[in-house]
Amino acid sequence: MSQDLFEAARDAMALCHAPYSKFPVGAAIRAEDGKIYAGANIEVLSFPEGWCAETTAIGHMVMAGARRIREVAVIAEKLELCPPCGGCRQRLAEFADPDTLIHLCDAQGVKQTLRMDQLLPFGFKTEVIG
Ligand code: THU
Repeated sequence: MSQDLFEAARDAMALCHAPYSKFPVGAAIRAEDGKIYAGANIEVLSFPEGWCAETTAIGHMVMAGARRIREVAVIAEKLELCPPCGGCRQRLAEFADPDTLIHLCDAQGVKQTLRMDQLLPFGFKTEVIG
């Protein structure tokens, strides 16, 4: 059930630090350990140095010791649906599987669900590094 994930993303959005864009975003990840890791976008005055809600959530997951994403929810209060940006698709894909579900939410709940490989087809992947 993705209701709890939606609620975690929505609640995280309220904690955003977005004084420059005034565009709050929240994301929540259900990880392999069954726990939910949430995050919001965080901006700084040097604009390119801020980061996305999905990135904050991934950071929380990794620092808790989990490595695999089972499910994701994303919400932005000023957008009907907020598909993750290109950079976050790459970050999510690294910790997710091709069939991992990404739920795009509005204030009421999940509105559209896509698979990771629909969000990022033909993404960067290689065995050569590492
Ligand atoms: N943002 C996210 O947090 N996630 C996305 O997938 C798209 C964009 C944030 C970054 C910035 O703080 C604000 O939205 C406007 O781009």
